[in-house]
Amino acid sequence: MKLGSDTAAVVTGGASGLGRAVAQALARQQVRTGILDMDEAAGGAVAAELGGTFARCDVADPASVAAALSWLRGAQGQERICINCAGIAPAQRTLSRGGAHDPAGFARVIGINLIGSFNVASQSAAGMATLDPLGDDAERGVIINTASIAAWDGQIGQAAYAASKAGVAGMTLPMARDLARIGIRVMAIAPGIFQTAMVSGFVPEVQEALARHAQFPARLGRPEEFAALACHIVENPMLNGEVIRLDAGARMPPR
Ligand SMILES: NC(=O)c1ccc[n+]([C@@H]2O[C@H](COP(=O)([O-])OP(=O)(O)OC[C@H]3O[C@@H](n4cnc5c(N)ncnc54)[C@H](O)[C@@H]3O)[C@@H](O)[C@H]2O)c1
Repeated sequence: MKLGSDTAAVVTGGASGLGRAVAQALARQQVRTGILDMDEAAGGAVAAELGGTFARCDVADPASVAAALSWLRGAQGQERICINCAGIAPAQRTLSRGGAHDPAGFARVIGINLIGSFNVASQSAAGMATLDPLGDDAERGVIINTASIAAWDGQIGQAAYAASKAGVAGMTLPMARDLARIGIRVMAIAPGIFQTAMVSGFVPEVQEALARHAQFPARLGRPEEFAALACHIVENPMLNGEVIRLDAGARMPPR
């Protein structure tokens, strides 16, 4: 699918980090870009900077997603591109100080990272299905979800996070199969360690230690490198049903 002013996109988590970089990259290509995020102040500021649209939304709540998508579609038209970057990454061990993992905390991570991605993707697909197909391939839309290398290499304290991201990776192929009939592709990107708010809160020594797991280049990823892959996925019709690791060859050890 071509990026341009005749196309609208929705980016969740667009107030910060990877989502913000994706929204900026799409807006640079003149795509009408709408941001969904919990963070009203930061999301509104990014939308204003891009000349885009913002709607406050809790992706874990299907009614909030429906209201926010409806508002964005009123402002910028039905999206053909849906990129899910909203997510959280709290750490907790399965047992800590003899006590079991807080069940509500586990459910919250699954609710935002996995169910939240599915809420937005499935509701976005329902809207895309109403659009005319485009081009020789009769393509209607593209959905990109954000997994993580933790889907395979989850570290100590990442049981909930890794489970949520393994779920995102696992639903990629069946969603692509479900939506193939109506010309919608579904992909996932599994980033290694990227320089965003999720990581910049760590002390510099921890950031340096994380960067050392990358083979080459041995540094943290830049959000614009994630955005470049997201834009390529939108533009390349042969990419479908796959999870792409974007990690400079990193394989994470237990800690
Ligand atoms: N940064 C990394 O190293 C890294 C690595 C692998 C995967 N990821 C994944 O990439 C995605 C983006 O992460 P990031 O590093 O940009 O983080 P970030 O903290 O900079 O941005 C996450 C955004 O999601 C929003 N958000 C959180 N909960 C939400 C909810 N319930 N509804 C709507 N918005 C919500 C936040 O307000 C924030 O703007 C996440 O899914 C994360 O798990 C990040």
